[in-house]
Amino acid sequence: MKELKFLEGKKLTVVGYGSQGHAHALNLHDLGMDVTVGLRKGSKSWEKAENSGVKVATIGEAVKGADVIMILAPDESQPELYKSEIEENLKEGAYLGFAHGFNIHYERIIPKKGINVFMVAPKGPGHMVREIFEKGHGVPCLTAVYQDQSGDTQKVANAWANGIGRNVGIIKTTFKEETETDLFGEQAVLCGGVTELMQAGFDTLVEAGYNPEVAYFECVHEMKLIIDMVYEKGFAKMRDSISNTAEYGDYVTGKKIITEKTREVMKDILGDIQNGQFANKFIAETENGYKFMNEERAKYSDSKIEAVGSKMRAMVFKK
Ligand SMILES: NC(=O)c1ccc[n+]([C@@H]2O[C@H](COP(=O)([O-])OP(=O)(O)OC[C@H]3O[C@@H](n4cnc5c(N)ncnc54)[C@H](OP(=O)(O)O)[C@@H]3O)[C@@H](O)[C@H]2O)c1
Repeated sequence: MKELKFLEGKKLTVVGYGSQGHAHALNLHDLGMDVTVGLRKGSKSWEKAENSGVKVATIGEAVKGADVIMILAPDESQPELYKSEIEENLKEGAYLGFAHGFNIHYERIIPKKGINVFMVAPKGPGHMVREIFEKGHGVPCLTAVYQDQSGDTQKVANAWANGIGRNVGIIKTTFKEETETDLFGEQAVLCGGVTELMQAGFDTLVEAGYNPEVAYFECVHEMKLIIDMVYEKGFAKMRDSISNTAEYGDYVTGKKIITEKTREVMKDILGDIQNGQFANKFIAETENGYKFMNEERAKYSDSKIEAVGSKMRAMVFKK
């Protein structure tokens, strides 16, 4: 892979072995790159990483002497981690990478001078970055450069993106654009928007007396089948594939769900992301021990939709 030449012969370190960490480390290791995973002492992932064939060291040791370091610990842990284990061990001219622009954009990490700073943000969850790679394909990545001491940081970012994503595609962006669009997309559409939409549809049918199992199929299970068509072929081809009845319902009803008011709310959500209010609230939540998030997790894991879903998935995916 010609694009990999900007990583070849370099010592690569991936900090963290979670969702993204295992995918970046293993994909690059499979391509013959020299990868070390940096983990905290006593990490529960240590044995797992070692068993998968990559070198493992404590974060400080893994960063010391490394040429390219990708930080793949959770966003909220990165500022402290950078100060305590990474900054002092970064050598002059090292390339420091992020998979999301949050900490650089909101100035929670001010990288020291004399190093290069880049971003490779895969457009997919970590387990998909690995799974798709293992099938011989890849996910596209956004790349950006924040600090370019060596003059070739974009090339290193491209090489990393091409390596983990098998040359599928790179879009150049900025830390600001990636951070703001990523936060907006996951809140308004991909995670917050979609889960509330499925939940509201399910609740409406169940409250009206319909069988929860049928409601689950209609409002949750089939979501993937429709989205897969949009993902692979676009809106027009998806609409071509559904019945005329479904297509007519799509046109007349979609706009009753996503109203002008919803679009106004989307603008407010984007505003809070742009002015840093969302980031401040999230940081306060992490400092408060994730109290609100833990309450929400408990509420959802106890919900009817999860109980029905678990039964339905056992039926659909039985071996
Ligand atoms: N999740 C995604 O699909 C996704 C998609 C695009 C971009 N990103 C970005 O990728 C980055 C990593 O996210 P992620 O979801 O992959 O993270 P994650 O799975 O939550 O990361 C877990 C890993 O980080 C380590 N870790 C956790 N807290 C730590 C700390 N305080 N000090 C040192 N190591 C710590 C864990 O160590 P132990 O093993 O010891 O517990 C584990 O190896 C983030 O910047 C995120 O925004 C993620």
